[in-house]
Amino acid sequence: MVNILPKPYSIEGRQLALDKEIAESNISYVAKASHARMWFADRLKERDEMAAYGHLISEDTKQVILGYLGTEVIVDDYVLTGVEASGDSTLNRTLYVQWGFEERRHSQVFRHTLIDSGLYSQEFVDQYIAEVTSDHWTFKRQTGHEETLILLAAYAVFQERHTRWNYTNTRVKLWEEYGSPMDENGRRLFPAAAGAIRYPEMDEGAHEANFCNIVRLNLKYFPEQTLDALIKVSKGYTMPIVQMPNGEEFLQAVLNSGLGNPRDIVKEVMTPSLNRMGLESKKALRKAIENYQNLPINCLVQLSGKTNTENIQEGFEVYEMLASGDFILKKEPVDSLPQSSK
Ligand SMILES: [Fe+2]
Ligand SMILES: [Fe+2]
Repeated sequence: MVNILPKPYSIEGRQLALDKEIAESNISYVAKASHARMWFADRLKERDEMAAYGHLISEDTKQVILGYLGTEVIVDDYVLTGVEASGDSTLNRTLYVQWGFEERRHSQVFRHTLIDSGLYSQEFVDQYIAEVTSDHWTFKRQTGHEETLILLAAYAVFQERHTRWNYTNTRVKLWEEYGSPMDENGRRLFPAAAGAIRYPEMDEGAHEANFCNIVRLNLKYFPEQTLDALIKVSKGYTMPIVQMPNGEEFLQAVLNSGLGNPRDIVKEVMTPSLNRMGLESKKALRKAIENYQNLPINCLVQLSGKTNTENIQEGFEVYEMLASGDFILKKEPVDSLPQSSK
């Protein structure tokens, strides 16, 4: 029997190479998560401090935290979407399950925070959760597109960064509302809810890094599809659309807390996320997709400054994508014939 390997730059060949790299990335993510970020919402010591600090929390921050609970509590919809989009890829399903485990503890942090700080009764919070989860989030409703793994990862890059940015800001706001506590060396102390929100904040940072990595790997093997996914999800991007009983109050509180300014979202979320994909702006993203049309079929795309032409399979030309959306050739195919015109 003869095994005929697909041409490396055929779709099949690319998919095999991408799967291999994604598998390595997923394995290292799961391994790292299980020792570097192992925490449980119900066991956070900050819970014991919440009762004493609860009365200092403003009405706006209370609404914001309730809204965060609403956004995090529909995690099963996000996870299921990812698991279904993974098809029979066990590795991708495992990643979504691990991610779901981490996201689930975020809603638990907010639930404990609201109850332990005395902001709402347990009955109120559980009724709120029941109302939010009676509706279902879908990727189609969110973005107007049917989900695929690359679209989900591209959307997640922006959303995870946005969530982390929200939590960082709310942590600082809580700190101020708590009377800006400091230790004897003048370092800020983050007790109670301000300390508890740091855990989801830290997870969101790790999620952003992981989805960035997945998108960058896709960009290498399937540049056109990946650039297209980034365009699709960044167009009209918003945080997950969730039906919340306090929807209006939440939106108003977000605006009052300085978290809803579209210019800030571009500056703090959209642009830095694109920067991590090697692009300086949305304009550069559009330019990259236009320029890509002129590249040869057997090209691989790497990010500026991160080009590694070692261990590249035969037959590939390596192009570096510049921050402007232009491409430059870094490596000719190894099996190319010597050119007499040189
Ligand atoms: Fe989360
Ligand atoms: Fe997350």
